Amino acid sequence: MSLTELRSPAGSALLTLAAGLVDGDQLKAVEALRATGAGAELAGEALTQATLRAKAVAKFGPDAGQMFFTRAGLEQATRLTVADRRAARLAAAGVRTIADLGCGIGADARAFARAGITVYAVEADPGTAEIAAANTAGLPVTVEHRDAQSVDLTAFDAVFCDPARRAGNRRVFDPRSYSPPWDFIESLTRRPAVIKLGPGIDHALLPGTAEAEWVSVGGEVVEAALWCDRLAEVPRRATVLPGDTGRSSGRGDGTPGGAAQLTGGGTREAEVGPTRAFVYDPDGAVIRSHLVAELADTLGANIADPTIAYLYADEVRATRFARAYRIDLVLPFSLKRLRSTLRERGVGRLTIKKRGSALEPESLRKQLRLDGPNEATVILTRVAGAPVTLLCQPADVS
Ligand SMILES: C[S@@+](CC[C@H](N)C(=O)[O-])C[C@H]1O[C@@H](n2cnc3c(N)ncnc32)[C@H](O)[C@@H]1O
Repeated sequence: MSLTELRSPAGSALLTLAAGLVDGDQLKAVEALRATGAGAELAGEALTQATLRAKAVAKFGPDAGQMFFTRAGLEQATRLTVADRRAARLAAAGVRTIADLGCGIGADARAFARAGITVYAVEADPGTAEIAAANTAGLPVTVEHRDAQSVDLTAFDAVFCDPARRAGNRRVFDPRSYSPPWDFIESLTRRPAVIKLGPGIDHALLPGTAEAEWVSVGGEVVEAALWCDRLAEVPRRATVLPGDTGRSSGRGDGTPGGAAQLTGGGTREAEVGPTRAFVYDPDGAVIRSHLVAELADTLGANIADPTIAYLYADEVRATRFARAYRIDLVLPFSLKRLRSTLRERGVGRLTIKKRGSALEPESLRKQLRLDGPNEATVILTRVAGAPVTLLCQPADVS
């Protein structure tokens, strides 16, 4: 990519023009860009950058309009709210210098630097390193095209590593396929380090001395992060962030615009009991961090099957860690019975949720032949091992 050309005043004007053309016909857009005197290659690159910037707004908000991307770099980059929170926590822990090992397009490096941390970032791919340098221009960040494993880490307060979790265009889930490799990542866990991992990481691979944090944004679990050595505060943490691209409003404040955090040991089992008037569907970050028992305590709730993370309680409480539903009916699972119940209640629009059921919601929906003006939610699950259907309505908790 001719990044230098795109960063020149003429390139900048071309990118502004391209931004207004991304939604239209691509050939016409290239023609319009070429009409400014730009060569075919530069016009194509400006359009690609403008397209990636438009896509990146979901992760970076208005900052996206000033940044440069590769397709893979954007997909792998940490979104702004998550990177900002990580950086704020590191700064609060007294970290002033950090080595970012595999910095990608530099999303985390930008956040560290903006939090007042001086960053030394390395990246194995030369084009991506060039982009990271552009994205961190003017900030206290040095980017080098270099292998992460060759960096002398002794001089840094902390280390950050967000390994590539993909082979070619495919995502990889096995940490042994991460790059830099897992044995190198494991060696980092013995120093003050933060390691970003896939949310599905096997708990058995996590060192007992580290804090493992799962982060969700708008209900979607986006990452796990290992906080190592003196940066670990608790064994397990679930951090729940709202699903917007605005900046986070501080640490652990629990306010609607900020983050809500649940912490604990991650080893307890929630108490098993009957179904009750309300059911809570915990956020994925709570489930992944094995903090369902801790959440149950805060809600006065129990599970109804030892293997399933739905929580049941007599009253509903406001929580950022779960969605609550009022249970109208608990039925042993029977297609016939469910169909007739929904008919009687005139349910034409149905939300189907499930945990611990092999049924396919869409094929069930067809078989139910829904008809009527009303709306409902059914939860397909098990209670003490037996398949049941919970007929519910979202509970309004204010
Ligand atoms: C998941 S991305 C980092 C994303 C970054 N944290 C961000 O938010 O923009 C991982 C990066 O590590 C780089 N990488 C993989 N192995 C590396 C190695 N051995 N040395 C340096 N960089 C490496 C990849 O090229 C990729 O750009």
